[in-house]
Amino acid sequence: MEHNITAPVIREATADDAEEMISYLNIVGGESDNLMHGADGFKVPIEGVKRRIQAFHDADNCVILIAVEDGKIIARAELDGYPFARLHHNAKLSISVRKDHWNMKIGTILMTEIIERAKKMNLHNIELEVIADNKAAIALYHKMGFSDVGVYKNWWFVNDVYSDAIVMQKCLDD
Ligand SMILES: CC(C)(COP(=O)(O)OP(=O)(O)OC[C@H]1O[C@@H](n2cnc3c(N)ncnc32)[C@H](O)[C@@H]1OP(=O)(O)O)[C@@H](O)C(=O)NCCC(=O)NCCS
Repeated sequence: MEHNITAPVIREATADDAEEMISYLNIVGGESDNLMHGADGFKVPIEGVKRRIQAFHDADNCVILIAVEDGKIIARAELDGYPFARLHHNAKLSISVRKDHWNMKIGTILMTEIIERAKKMNLHNIELEVIADNKAAIALYHKMGFSDVGVYKNWWFVNDVYSDAIVMQKCLDD
């Protein structure tokens, strides 16, 4: 689909983005069956979202990046680092892009940036789980150097159907 490209700005989210982030998450949830919630399924109150964004900003192993175009969030990626010392060098990744911006390399740009952030934070591993038939996400993760490490059986429950998740890891020490 043709789209007027004004290059989105990629930046770390701040607490002031909470309202727009809630709106984004409720929209993007309805645009695919591959996220943890569906349309309007993100029910966290704004104060909770503000606290979480601030906590991610303050932590030395977490980050939330957003891509903003014309004042609207059009993509988001986060690294959620483990709080405990023995796992502190690992973080879980999640990413989404608004459907009208798919296949325009925004996912690639966000992944590249968040991997750089992970290295700067001295993380050693990024992990994620992806629904086994999510071809676009799997292609993106493989391109970014993620390896399949296993399968969680019946991990997702979407539209009354259980499906497996592929577990992936990118080891930043390689
Ligand atoms: C997965 C997602 C983040 C990708 O974002 P994006 O901005 O479209 O990603 P990019 O354009 O940078 O790259 C997409 C890649 O997938 C490939 N791709 C797209 N559809 C594909 C398909 N059906 N089969 C195989 N590869 C596919 C593209 O060719 C591209 O690879 P390339 O750069 O080597 O050409 C986006 O589709 C999305 O938000 N999906 C819904 C939410 C989601 O699934 N999040 C991940 C949950 S684990």
